[in-house]
Amino acid sequence: MKTKAPTQAKIEVTRDGPYLVSGGLPLSEQWIVTNAEGDSLEYREGVKFPTTPQYALCRCGQSANKPFCDGSHAKVRFNGTETAGHEPYLEQAKTIDGPTLQLTDQDKLCAFARFCDPKGRIWNLVKQTDNPEIEKIVKHEAGHCPAGRLVIRDKATGKAIEPEFTPSLGLIEDTEKKVGGPIWVRGGITIMAADVKAYEIRNRVTLCRCGNSANKPFCDGSHAD
Ligand code: FES
Repeated sequence: MKTKAPTQAKIEVTRDGPYLVSGGLPLSEQWIVTNAEGDSLEYREGVKFPTTPQYALCRCGQSANKPFCDGSHAKVRFNGTETAGHEPYLEQAKTIDGPTLQLTDQDKLCAFARFCDPKGRIWNLVKQTDNPEIEKIVKHEAGHCPAGRLVIRDKATGKAIEPEFTPSLGLIEDTEKKVGGPIWVRGGITIMAADVKAYEIRNRVTLCRCGNSANKPFCDGSHAD
C-alpha cells in the first residue's frame, strides 16, 4: 500500500544553492539496469544513505562531497535561477490517444532515462494498445519514466496509472551513459521554489543535480550531454 509523505516532508530550492530536504526522507542510489543493447529496463537500488531529519543536496554539480552540498556553489558562483513554469502538468502536456490508453507527454521534463525506447517507441506503441502485450509494454515504459514526463491514463476510467511509491528520494545513476542523473522525487513530496511558491505536487518528478538544466529546478537531460 502507498505510504503518504510525512506532512513535514519537503524540498526547498534555495537561491543559487542546494536543495534543503526535511522530514526524514530516505535517500538511495537508483541504478538504471540495461540489457546487452543498452536499453533501459529496470532500476536497481545501490547505496542507501543513513536517513537523517534534514540534509542539503548539491544542485550545482560541483560538490566534492556529492550527493551533499559542501558549499562549492558559492565558490563557483552557481546561477541556479529557476526557469520552470508553475502551470500544472496537464496544462503543459500533449495528449496521444490509443485504443485503450491515453499518453500525456510534457517533453520539457525529459530526464533522458530512455525507458520509453525499447520494443518500439512509446509514442508509436500507445496507438496499438488493443494488443494486450503491447498495452503491458506501454504501461511498463510510462511507469518507469522517472520524471513523470510520460503518464498513461486508462481511457475507460480516465484515471492515471501511476506506480506506487513510498515517499523517498533516489539518485539516478545512468549505467549506459556512465553519468550521474537527477534526483528522483517519489511519492508526492512538496517542492518549494526559492520564492517560496510550491510547484505542483506530483507522484514523480526529477530535479537537476548537475547544474546545467535549462528547466531548473527540474532535470532536462543535460547531464547526459
Ligand atoms: S549546491 Fe552546494 S555544493 Fe553544489
